[in-house]
Amino acid sequence: MEFPDYVKAKKRTNEKILNENYEFNINLRDLGKDKTYYLKTYGCQMNEHDSENIKAMLENMGFTAIDDYETADLVILNTCSIRENAHNKAFGMLGRLKHIKENNNPNLIVGLCGCMAQEEGVIDEIVHKYKWVNFVIGTHNLHHLPEVLNLSIENNKQEVEVFSKEGSIIEGIPVKRDSKYKAYVNIIYGCDKFCTYCIVPFTRGKQRSRNGKDIIREVEELVKDGYQEVTLLGQNVNAYGKDFDYDYNMENLLEDVAKTGIKRIFFMTSHPWDFTDGMIDVIAKYDNIMPFIHLPVQSGSSRILKLMGRRYTKESYIELFDKIKEKVPGVVISTDIIVGFPGETEEDFKETLDLVEHCKYDSAYTFIYSPREKTPAAALTNQVDEKVKEERLQRLNELINKYSLESNEKILDKTVPVLVDGISTKKGELFGYTNTKKLVNFTGDESLIGKIVNVHITDVKTWSIDGESVE
Ligand code: 5AD
Ligand code: SF4
Repeated sequence: MEFPDYVKAKKRTNEKILNENYEFNINLRDLGKDKTYYLKTYGCQMNEHDSENIKAMLENMGFTAIDDYETADLVILNTCSIRENAHNKAFGMLGRLKHIKENNNPNLIVGLCGCMAQEEGVIDEIVHKYKWVNFVIGTHNLHHLPEVLNLSIENNKQEVEVFSKEGSIIEGIPVKRDSKYKAYVNIIYGCDKFCTYCIVPFTRGKQRSRNGKDIIREVEELVKDGYQEVTLLGQNVNAYGKDFDYDYNMENLLEDVAKTGIKRIFFMTSHPWDFTDGMIDVIAKYDNIMPFIHLPVQSGSSRILKLMGRRYTKESYIELFDKIKEKVPGVVISTDIIVGFPGETEEDFKETLDLVEHCKYDSAYTFIYSPREKTPAAALTNQVDEKVKEERLQRLNELINKYSLESNEKILDKTVPVLVDGISTKKGELFGYTNTKKLVNFTGDESLIGKIVNVHITDVKTWSIDGESVE
């Protein structure tokens, strides 16, 4: 049993991060024979990719995936801590699972992993009030899933294994990718930025980069397997390589990934602080690095940015934004914005609207500030009233929507390349993404799935883009 501890989780040391290889305990290969599993994923792409690892580990033990948690033998929740609603959703699901375990399936095994597993308060609650949850496994030791699951079954009691401090980087964890054409590739784990509202540096640990050669090998294999697209993942990808004792950074990595010849490269998320001129030049130079950048601003008020610990001002952000727009032809930039950070005044909020007016973002994720356990901002006494937060979110969204529509209108009547994902469930048409991550529904033949095809855009709205393939 090992429980999360925030004091340890917050500590950053210069200890060298080791690389280890995943080893599968072959004795567990039949643990899931004739058994089914249901995996529910909450949160970001990092979690989605972790779930691809979880699926492979489970299937290597003989478990079979099903879509219905009511009849599954094993249910795992891969959770998210970023805002309270993600947290509430997972607890809501636990309530439903408790009901199933009590009434229909007493042998149901329930496991919890992901960011919530790293939260002191959550684990306290699970251990004391959710004794029927069979196991909890943290983000740093996800590769122990087979052993932890096995222990909880063998001992027939709740097993909690959560390391507060990050361990080694584990290479070779099996993966069952959701797509045959596009893939997530982790490049850096953790975050050292400690923005004052954010729980991620506690739940995901110290910033640590994967070796370049391991990343390149993975991308080369994806190319061989016919993959068209990779998204390089990290909480802050621009910090890539900062923890190496040799010179190799995001600019170098982007260039080396571009040279593998993979057709499309995306990367996310970028913190404005670490975005170098060298990176901008590489993005502009290679046709296979997509002209799409997610550049969270969080607020347009320099006063609030300082309180958030973001390390840039409104002015320096705009300078970076304008430079990227100027140097990368046709670039599309999206952002994240939080409204209602403690102490945010109407004046501060207007600064955010003003910044949006300047940047005219192609798209944006907007959030109401949500206090998170033990983060510095949660302790501030001048929290903004819920009604004010909601009203600000609505005003912000109106402006964001206006510019999203304007951005979509730029491709109306144009022919753009689209990587075809599949058949859209609603319309029965094909769907796919442009090289600036715009979702397009279009008519075309099923044989186009998995290919990059030219689509003529016939109609655009704020939330949808329609077209027809012109092959
Ligand atoms: N409240 C609201 N939004 C948050 N984010 C991170 N922490 C919080 C919080 N406590 C948002 C930020 C970040 C995105 C992933 O989630 O905008 O960029
Ligand atoms: Fe959270 Fe800031 Fe790190 Fe992003 S950069 S994960 S917002 S602490």
